Amino acid sequence: MNPSEPRPVPTDEALRAHPTASARTAGVPTANEPAANVSTAGAAAANAPTAGARPPIRPRAPRLGFDGVRRHWLAGSRAATQLANGVNLLFPAGERFFIRSVRSYLDRVSPDLAAQVKGFFGQEGRHAQAHERLFDTLREQGFDIDSLLERYEHLAYDRIEEASPRPLRLAVTVALEHFTAILAEDALTGGVLVHADPEIRRLLEWHAVEELEHKAVAFDVLQEVAPSYALRVAGMALATLTLGGFWLWATRELLAQDGSSLLEARRELAELRERAVREGESRVMEPVGKRVFLRGIREYLRPGFHPMDRDHSALIAATLARLEAEGVVVADKSEEAPS
Ligand SMILES: [Fe+2]
Ligand SMILES: [Fe+2]
Repeated sequence: MNPSEPRPVPTDEALRAHPTASARTAGVPTANEPAANVSTAGAAAANAPTAGARPPIRPRAPRLGFDGVRRHWLAGSRAATQLANGVNLLFPAGERFFIRSVRSYLDRVSPDLAAQVKGFFGQEGRHAQAHERLFDTLREQGFDIDSLLERYEHLAYDRIEEASPRPLRLAVTVALEHFTAILAEDALTGGVLVHADPEIRRLLEWHAVEELEHKAVAFDVLQEVAPSYALRVAGMALATLTLGGFWLWATRELLAQDGSSLLEARRELAELRERAVREGESRVMEPVGKRVFLRGIREYLRPGFHPMDRDHSALIAATLARLEAEGVVVADKSEEAPS
């Protein structure tokens, strides 16, 4: 399958006018409707299926093309767009770091978990490739992302990763996967993507679904090879510092290239939230610090925490049904085997 091949349905013009038109016609939940409940079972960790009992993790090849993406593709807002571009820039190198961290323990995990790990590698590898295709759009829009990427990758991976012991790299990966799962749940339930360019919405929805599918893999590897609470906490501390720091830095750089600043962006985001409240939007996004970091840390530090505490299966199924209806992914489960 050629990912850049045009899909038969629907036209971009129709979707730009009505971002969820195809989902409506397909009769599946749309991006601005609560697609499904996310249930939180207090004792779910104890009852969560083991790796062998979970559905297989399969990478998909989405059909995506980013021609015609506007410079301010999220809500027409410079601040919201650069905040999203900022974290998107971190993904590809970050995902390759996740793969390296987990791969270094592959020979020590149980066979059932190893099968899940291979699916995780396939999904993360494809996420990295898809986000890198979006980078070309940013370059065409005039952003100098290459020097930014070079500085980020040098500091994060040549320096910090190199200086970190192997168990800490895995623990950082596990904590970052928890943050990623929160971002994914947010993207699919928070309503913000209804304001996004339709093709980027599809990219982020596909990515979010697969993040939720493999959210427990790295955690289970850590539990099998180094089940230490102190190590888990250390991983969370470094993950918070690095994700928070690099995200803020990348956003500031992009805003500067776009003629703005963090201070101005903060004002713009506050205005967007006020407008959403005035217009009666049912879900108004809280600031990232609270919505992602505080929540993530609070959940993760609970000694009995497990990623499967929150049941995302209905959300995954409903979102996949929408993406299949839009022709972004195919339902055929016999796609290429995990790489
Ligand atoms: Fe990913
Ligand atoms: Fe992931």
